[in-house]
Amino acid sequence: MVKISAVAVALAGTALATPMPQASGTPTPKTLVSGALWIRAVAAPNYHKYLQTKPANVPGTAILDSYTTAGQFNVEDGQLVNKVSTPPLYMWVEEPADKANPPRTLATWFNTTKNPFGTFAFQGDALSWSVPSVKRQNLAAWLVCAKQALFINTGAFSYQTPSGCSDQTIHYYNDKTANN
Ligand SMILES: *[C@@H]1O[C@H](CO)[C@@H](O)[C@H](O)[C@H]1NC(C)=O
Repeated sequence: MVKISAVAVALAGTALATPMPQASGTPTPKTLVSGALWIRAVAAPNYHKYLQTKPANVPGTAILDSYTTAGQFNVEDGQLVNKVSTPPLYMWVEEPADKANPPRTLATWFNTTKNPFGTFAFQGDALSWSVPSVKRQNLAAWLVCAKQALFINTGAFSYQTPSGCSDQTIHYYNDKTANN
């Protein structure tokens, strides 16, 4: 038992630690391109913090940060796509080994290939993510934790919030410019 779980942990660590190309980033256009949306939180402590990567528009951890470096996105065929990166980037969600008892947080990041795990959708203007194998109380519940990293919240919204994290929902915003 101990051996197996140690191996599982080591493998999970390896998968998440897979280095991704570190480009220098490309600045986001100041105004929305055709077919793109800003995505942002609208409540403290991440009020008007926008979805992006750091550097901007390259593969890496999904974070919420300043409107000045916000990415531009849309949902297409269940994929959350960065519309201003070259090539397009897709948001990925960490696939837990035990889907019946998943960890409270599932990591999210952007990669150059399509996300193989789950489906993104807008519920009204709120970004949701679902997969049949993981039961969630609230498909639009996210957590923002250390270094502004964005996670899927597999538990209830605003209930036993993990230490160092904040409950957030994130919403599209389609005004021409991102604002503070
Ligand atoms: C990125 O996508 C490639 C191709 O699907 C995959 O092999 C690789 O594991 C992915 N990396 C991450 C960190 O998602």
